[in-house]
This record gives sequence, C-alpha cells and structure tokens, in this order.
Amino acid sequence: MAALKTEIIIETRALCYSYAGAEEVPPAVAGIDLKVSRGEYLALLGVNGSGKTTLLKLLNALLIPSQGEVLVKGISTVEAERVQLVRQACGMIFQNPDNQIVATTVEEDIAFGLENMALPAAEIRRRVDQVAGRLGLTHLLRQPPHLLSGGEKQRTAIAGILAMQPACILMDEPTAMLDPAGRRDVLETVKELNKTEALAVVHVTHNPAEAAEANRIVVLEQGRIVADGKPGEILTDLKLLHGLKLQGTVAAELAHLLRQRGLNLPTAILQNRELVESLCISEPVS
Ligand SMILES: Nc1ncnc2c1ncn2[C@@H]1O[C@H](COP(=O)(O)OP(=O)(O)OP(=O)(O)O)[C@@H](O)[C@H]1O
Ligand SMILES: [Mg+2]
Repeated sequence: MAALKTEIIIETRALCYSYAGAEEVPPAVAGIDLKVSRGEYLALLGVNGSGKTTLLKLLNALLIPSQGEVLVKGISTVEAERVQLVRQACGMIFQNPDNQIVATTVEEDIAFGLENMALPAAEIRRRVDQVAGRLGLTHLLRQPPHLLSGGEKQRTAIAGILAMQPACILMDEPTAMLDPAGRRDVLETVKELNKTEALAVVHVTHNPAEAAEANRIVVLEQGRIVADGKPGEILTDLKLLHGLKLQGTVAAELAHLLRQRGLNLPTAILQNRELVESLCISEPVS
C-alpha cells in the first residue's frame, strides 16, 4: 500500500527576522527551516530571548520575514491580501489570557473571529455552540470574560480560534499564568483536539513536563534550531540541555543524579512513572 502523504501545514524556508532598530544585533530569528505537519504536536524550547515568540509571530503573519519565507497551507505570509486566510488556518494563543479577550461576553468573544470572516449569523451561532460544548464553556456563554478563571479565559481564547476551524494552533506559554488545575485543563483540551481532529500544535513552553507531552521537540538558541527530535531523545539528553542552560524533566534530572551516585538506571528515563518503575524493582511491602 502506498504511504499516506503527510500534509505540511507550515513551512519556513531560510527564515530570518530582525526587529527594526535592532539591525546591529544578531537577528531574533536567524535562518530557520521548519516543517509542521497535520496532526503534529511540536513543543518549542529555548532560553529567554532565543526567538520563540518571534518565530510564532512569523508563523501567524503578525510579523513578516526580513528574509526567507513562511508558507501556511501553501500561502506565503507576505501576501497581504491573504493574511486573513493565514490567521484562520493558524491561530495564536498568548501567555496572558487577559490580553486576548476582546468582547463583553464569552459568546461574543468566541464569535469575534467568525464575524471577521463574514459568516452568516446562523453559522456563527452553530459554531459558537459547538466549540463551547466541546470546551465545556456552554454554561459560561453569557458571562463577561473578566469574571472567568484564568483557565476558563484561556479555553475561551482557544474556543475563538477553534471556531475558525484552523489547521494549526500556536500557543506561546499558554499555561504560564495558570494554577496546576487550569494548566491541566488547557493542555488536556489541546491534546484531545490534536488527537481527535489532527489539529497541529506548536507549543512554546519553559516546562519540560509539558514539552514531554509533545510528539516532537524543537530547541532554539539565538534564533536557530539546535535540536529537533522526539521528547524521549531531547529531554533525556542532559548534556545537550544543560549546555543550552535548559533542563530535562524532573525524572530525567533525578535519574542523572542517581546515576552519578552509582545507581544503574536506564538512560532513557523521561517520566516520573518510568523512574519509579526503575527504582521499585523489589517486591511491594504487603
Ligand atoms: N519588539 C522588539 N524590539 C526589539 N527587539 C525585540 C523585540 N521583541 C523581541 N526582541 C528581541 O528579539 C530576541 C528574541 O526575542 P523573543 O521574544 O522572540 O524570545 P523568546 O524566546 O520568546 O523569549 P522568552 O522566553 O523570554 O519569551 C531577543 O533578543 C529580544 O530582545
Ligand atoms: Mg517569548
């Protein structure tokens, strides 16, 4: 049987970006070639200032390349008249949910992008109800967004993006301001959409445990890709991560320290349960 062709949602070619007035400093994005396929969940790691947010904004046509190009579903982001199509195909969620709420009720907020698409009112209603149901927001539709919890606000922002039926969602530290429950809530929502709808996800995070949930990790340093692989490869390669001033998961870091103390542990420990299983080889106490 012929292999199924993977659909490339985002492609960057020799992508560079320098901020205006900062030409004398190295570019914020300095030559990135990246492809993101349908259904892929990619985590983007890198220290502060490594270019993650700049890259995401380039993928969403919030910034236009200084050199090279970005194609979203084959549309170049320099095609000003098609920017709306790029943003519909590839929506962005920011760190602070308060900065992306634009309307006075949750339902108006979810409908905002749809109204810009000039869809008929009945179709807008149908899509708002559908995504609100999907994201557990139905009971909050008439609420003013400022009364929601942080997690609910992030889910409202995600609902507004999903209503536009995108191929990809870009998330810039979406859980940074949430408590553990809100964080789990948002991540589980996105993971489920990634699995069931083959929604591509590009997720910027400083949290190795969140990155471990992705199916691919790309690491940036000074605007360049310095590593690209599976979480099991990247997040257990502590030599690489420490060299970049990053960390592995708690389990990977602990396993590393225990190995240094002479414990014979496998090198590929990523998750807590893998560490526990490796340590608890004795019979449980009855
Ligand atoms: N508006 C701007 N004007 C000038 N330089 C900027 C601007 N925004 C970002 N930069 C610079 O571009 C580089 C990349 O910044 P960017 O925000 O993309 O990094 P980041 O990886 O998202 O960092 P963080 O983890 O802190 O969010 C940094 O050197 C930063 O100082
Ligand atoms: Mg950033």
